[in-house]
Amino acid sequence: MTQDPSSTPHFAIAIDGPAASGKSTLARLLASRLGLIMVNSGAMYRAITWKILRENIDSHDAPAVIELLGRIEIRCGHDGILSTITIDGIDPGDELRGPDVNANVSAISAIPQVRNKLIDLQRGYLEHSSIVMEGRDIGSVVFPDTPFKIYVDADEEVRAARRGDEGLVDSIAKRDAADSKRATAPLIVAEGATVLDNSHLGIEEGVQAAIEILTRQGLKL
Ligand code: CDP
Repeated sequence: MTQDPSSTPHFAIAIDGPAASGKSTLARLLASRLGLIMVNSGAMYRAITWKILRENIDSHDAPAVIELLGRIEIRCGHDGILSTITIDGIDPGDELRGPDVNANVSAISAIPQVRNKLIDLQRGYLEHSSIVMEGRDIGSVVFPDTPFKIYVDADEEVRAARRGDEGLVDSIAKRDAADSKRATAPLIVAEGATVLDNSHLGIEEGVQAAIEILTRQGLKL
């Protein structure tokens, strides 16, 4: 379901940023306030990683990963509020956020063939709905022409503490370094994006700040 974003009446709000910066919480609340579908692109990279680990494939063995990609069925949809994903009919659920997936997802997401496949699925969402999509390259690669772009950031200690509070094992500094240094679609502040540092903001303050930014970017509420 490849989609030329310019051919649809729907629009995308791009929320990018490093690990544990609060992108998901912000994207979810924004989507709910604005009546849009929230799409978690990270869950797609995590789902491929989950499948690769289940098949005992080494995440650094790109040819084996690409071979697997050609024989699995990835279905992306939504439940009216949030994006959903199944691989060969299975929803990985909470396993997407497990330590093994955390440790291997950056290697998988650095493979250009993986990105190309998922980008098509990500753009396909606009066929049916307007969306808030969060990730690393949404404003730079997936929807570079959208005027609505926020780069969410927070101090590294704040982000590490947030992930620890969630009870999750996740080397966010390592993941950020890999995501920022990769050759294909590295994490950057996209052209036209406004940076929102929420290190010292509560959740509701962050949502309000994001709505102000989007309004300045031309979003009609
Ligand atoms: O949990 P957190 O918000 O830190 O990460 P995530 O959004 O679930 O993304 C997990 C991993 O997927 C990232 O560390 C990236 O390696 C990759 N990713 C990506 O490359 N591009 C995206 N648009 C989204 C995620």
